[in-house]
Amino acid sequence: MVTAVAQRLAAQRREINDTLARLSLSSENLQQVKDKMRVELERGLRKDSHSTASVKMLPSFVYRTPNGTERGKYLALDLGGTNFRVLVVKIRSGIRKSVRMYNKIYAIPLEIMQGTGEELFDHIVQCISDFLDYMGMKNTRLPLGFTFSFPCRQTGIDKGSLVSWTKGFKATDCEGNDVVEMLREAIKRRNEFDLDIVAVVNDTVGTMMTCAYEDPKCEIGLIAGTGSNVCYMEEMRNIEMVEGDEGQMCVNTEWGGFGENDCIEDIRTRFDREVDEGSLNNGKQRFEKMTSGMYLGEIVRQILIDLTRRGLLFRGHITEPLKTRGIFETKFLSQIERYRVVRAILQQLGLDSTCDDSIIVKEVCGTVSRRAAQLCGAGMAAIVDKIRENRGRNQMNITVGVDGTLYKLHPHFSRILKDTVKALAPQCDVEFVLSEDGSGKGAALITAVQHHRQPRSDSIFCGFRWYALPEGAAAAKGYKLRELGNGLCSDTNPTATVKMLPTFVRSIPDGSEKGDFIALDLGGSAFRILRVKVSHEKKQTVQMESQIYDTPEDIIHGSGTRLFDHVAECLGDFMEKQNIKDKKLSVGFTFSFPCAQTKLNESYLLTWTKRFKASGVEGMDIVTLLNKAIKKRGDYDADIMAVVNDTVGTMMTCGFDDQRCEVGIIIGTGTNACYMEELRHIDLVEGDEGRMCINTEWGAFGDDGMLEDIRTEFDREIDRGSLNPGKQLFEKMVSGMYIGELVRLILVKMAKEGFLFEGRITPELLTKGKFETKHVSSIEKSKEGLTKAKDILGRLGMEPSADDCIAVQHICTIVSHRSANLIAATLGGILSRLKDNKGNPRLRTTVGIDGSLYKMHPQYARRLHKTVRRLVPESDVRFLLSESGSSKGAAMVTAVAYRLADHGNEYNALEDFS
Ligand code: G6P
Ligand code: G6P
Ligand code: BGC
Ligand code: BGC
Repeated sequence: MVTAVAQRLAAQRREINDTLARLSLSSENLQQVKDKMRVELERGLRKDSHSTASVKMLPSFVYRTPNGTERGKYLALDLGGTNFRVLVVKIRSGIRKSVRMYNKIYAIPLEIMQGTGEELFDHIVQCISDFLDYMGMKNTRLPLGFTFSFPCRQTGIDKGSLVSWTKGFKATDCEGNDVVEMLREAIKRRNEFDLDIVAVVNDTVGTMMTCAYEDPKCEIGLIAGTGSNVCYMEEMRNIEMVEGDEGQMCVNTEWGGFGENDCIEDIRTRFDREVDEGSLNNGKQRFEKMTSGMYLGEIVRQILIDLTRRGLLFRGHITEPLKTRGIFETKFLSQIERYRVVRAILQQLGLDSTCDDSIIVKEVCGTVSRRAAQLCGAGMAAIVDKIRENRGRNQMNITVGVDGTLYKLHPHFSRILKDTVKALAPQCDVEFVLSEDGSGKGAALITAVQHHRQPRSDSIFCGFRWYALPEGAAAAKGYKLRELGNGLCSDTNPTATVKMLPTFVRSIPDGSEKGDFIALDLGGSAFRILRVKVSHEKKQTVQMESQIYDTPEDIIHGSGTRLFDHVAECLGDFMEKQNIKDKKLSVGFTFSFPCAQTKLNESYLLTWTKRFKASGVEGMDIVTLLNKAIKKRGDYDADIMAVVNDTVGTMMTCGFDDQRCEVGIIIGTGTNACYMEELRHIDLVEGDEGRMCINTEWGAFGDDGMLEDIRTEFDREIDRGSLNPGKQLFEKMVSGMYIGELVRLILVKMAKEGFLFEGRITPELLTKGKFETKHVSSIEKSKEGLTKAKDILGRLGMEPSADDCIAVQHICTIVSHRSANLIAATLGGILSRLKDNKGNPRLRTTVGIDGSLYKMHPQYARRLHKTVRRLVPESDVRFLLSESGSSKGAAMVTAVAYRLADHGNEYNALEDFS
C-alpha cells in the first residue's frame, strides 16, 4: 500500500517535472536564441529584409544621449505602461544641473483602451486639461514630450505612425495613423489650451535617456514590465532605413515581435500558444508573450489548468477562478516568489490549495519567470555584442537603463537576467541601472534638446561631434606621432603626407643679430613688404616699417612670371618710398607654402596651397624666379639671403623674446607648424650634432586617407570645390580659409531640410565664400554673438528667428571647436616628440603662434591651450602670440645669413650658422 502511494506520487512528480522541463532552457538553447536574435537585429536594420524582419528596428530620431546642457520646463505624457501619467518636468543645466518633476496618475478604463481612437485621445486630453488646471498652467503653451510605449514608425522626432497596438490596447482607427496628429486633433477638438508637441518617444528610449542623464555610459534602454522591449545607440551607417552615415541614432528594436516568423517555435510550448491565442493580438509579439509581465501570469495559469486537468493539482478541480483569464497577475508571481505565502495568495484568488499544491504552484512560477529572465538575457547578449562589434572592440563596458514592474518587483528576475548576459556575452561588462524616475523624464530631456534645435542639427553634424571628445583628440595625436616619424626618414619621406621639410635654420635668435633688412611676406591674408632695422647699442632693438600690397586674384591665379613681376614691382615701389633704391639690401623672404629647401636661399615650391595657383612655379626655385624678375626691371638690386616659411618666421619672432621658443605654429588662412628637431633624426640632412628647425607641413595630414573616419560630407564638399582637391585635407578641416565655408554648407543643408530659417535660403547664402571665418568669430562672441548672428544673416538677405540665431551660433561653435581640438591633437604630437627627444620627465617649452583665426576668434586660444595641456600633461607649455608677424623672424634669419656671408663663408646646407 505504502509503496503504491509512493509510486503514484513519484509518477506524478515525474509528470510535473516533464511538464516544467519543456519550459527550462539549456545553455545551448539560450545561445541559439542569442544567435537568432542577432540575425533578426541585422535583418531589421537592412533595407532588403526590413519588411519581413520580426524585430522591426525602428529609427527613433534621437541622435544622442543627454549631455547636461538641457534646460527648460516641459510637459510629458507617459502612456502604455501600467500607469498613464501626465507630468511637468523642470530641467536646469550647468552647475545647478537638476531635474524636478510633478506628476499625476490617471486611469484609462478598459472600454477606452479598447474603444475608438477618438475616445482614447479625447480622454488623454481631458486628463491633460485636469493636470494643467491642477498645476495652474493652462495659459502657458508648453513644449510636450509624448512617451508612447507602442511600436511607431517614425519619420522624424515628432512624427510616428502606430504600427500596431500591443499589450492591453486595441482602440480602433489608430493603427497606421500618426499619433502626434491624433493628439493635436484631440487638443484642437477640446479647444481649451494649446501645446507644442515636440517629440514622440518609446518608453525604452525615454528610459535610456533618463538613465544616461546620470551615467553617460548608458546607451541601452530595457523595459521588462507589462511589455518587453529594448532600444540602443546604433551607428547611422548600419541603419539603412534612414539616410546619412555619420554618427549614431537610437534604434527601438521592438524585440517583443521576435519569433513572429516562427524562428523560435522550437522553444515555444503549448502554453505559450494558448496564451497567444487568448490575446488581443494573436500571432504577434511572441517573444514579449514569453517574457513580459502582462503574460507571465497567464502562462502560469495555463500550466496550472493543465496540471489540474491531469489530476496533478488542486485535487483535479478546475474552479471558476482558475478559468478566469488574467486572474494571475504578474505581481502575484513576484509575491509568491518573494514571500512564502503561496497559500494565502492562492486563497485570495479563490483557489483552495493543499500544501503540496502550493509547492507546485511556486515551482511553476519560478520556472516561468526564470525562462523570461533568461530569454531577455539572451536577447540582451545579442545587443551588447552587436554594439561591441560595431565599435571594433575586444572588450566593452556599457550600461543598460532599465524600467518596468517585472524587473522592479520580481525577486530573482534581475539576477537571472544579469547572469545570462554575463554567460552569453563574456566580452562585455554590462551594468544594469534602474530608472528611478520613469521614462517621462527622458522624454522631457529629448524635448529639451529638440526644443533648442540641437538634435535636428545634430543629425547633420554628428560627424563633427567626434572632435568634441577628448578621446578623439587623443586618437588623432596618436596618428600624428606615427606620421612625424615617417616624414623624417629618407626612405619613407617621399610617400609621407606630412613632409617634415628641413629649413636650414639651426637656432633661435641669440641677441647678436644686427643690420638693415628688407622682408617680403607672401602667402597669408596680406602681402607685406617691410624694412627691419636691428640695432645694437647696449640693447638690441628692432625697428620696423611696413606696407601692405594688393595681390589681385588674376595675378595669383595667372602665370608665375606675372606673379613674380608683381612682387618685384611692389618691392621697387617700397624701396623708392624708403629712398633706398640705390642700396643693395639683404632680403628675407617669408614664403608661406611648402618648399623643399637645399639651402637657406634655395627653395623649390612643392605645391601651391590656400588661394594661390600661379602656373609654372611648382617645382621651381622661388629665389631664382624673384631674382629674374628683379633683374628684368633693372632699376634696383637686392640680395635674397633667406627663404623662410611663416611658421619658422613666427618661431624666430617669438624666440627673439623668449629663448625657450622651439615651436612655431600658424592658425590663419592656412595652418602649419615647425619645431626644433635633433639633427641626428633628420636623415635628409647630413650631420648629427645640434638641431634644425623642421617645417612639418601638417596641413597635408590625412591626404593618404588617414582622417577619413572623421571627415564629414561638408569636408568633402569643401575639398571638391577647392583649388587643390585631395590635398591639404587637415588644413581644410581647421584653417581660416575654410571654417566660414564649412559653416555655410551646414547652414544650407539644414535650411534645405527645413530645420533652419523655416526652410528659406537666399541666393547670397548659396554663394560660396559669403560666410567668412571672421563672421564665425563675431557670432561666437559671448555677449553680442546672437545680435551679430542676426546682423550677418540679415546682410545675406535672411530673416533669422531667435531660435535660428541660437542654432547658427551652435554650429559655429562646433566647427571652430573641432578645429581647435584637431590642432591641439597634432600639436600634442609634436610636443610629445620634443619631450621624448629631450628625455626629461617634464617638458618646459614655448610655442610661438600667429594667424588670423587664432588671433581674432574669441574662444579659440583658450580652448586650444586647455586641450593641449590636457593631452600633454607632464608639461609647462607657454603660448606666445607673435606680435610682429613672421617678418621680424625672417629678418633674424637673414641677419645670421648675412653675417656668415659677410665673413666670406658659404651659407649653404651644411653650414652651422648659429
Ligand atoms: C516606465 C515608463 C512607462 C513604461 C514603464 C514600463 O516607468 O515611464 O511608460 O511603460 O516603465 O513598465 P510597466 O511595468 O508599467 O509596463
Ligand atoms: C604671420 C605672417 C604671415 C602668415 C600669417 C598667417 O603674421 O607674417 O606671413 O602667413 O601670420 O596668418 P593669416 O591669418 O594672415 O594667414
Ligand atoms: C511595445 C513597446 C514597448 C514595450 C514596453 C511593447 O508591447 O511594443 O513599444 O516599449 O511594450 O512597454
Ligand atoms: C602652407 C604652409 C603655411 C601655412 C600657414 C599652408 O597652406 O602649406 O606652408 O605655413 O599654410 O600659412
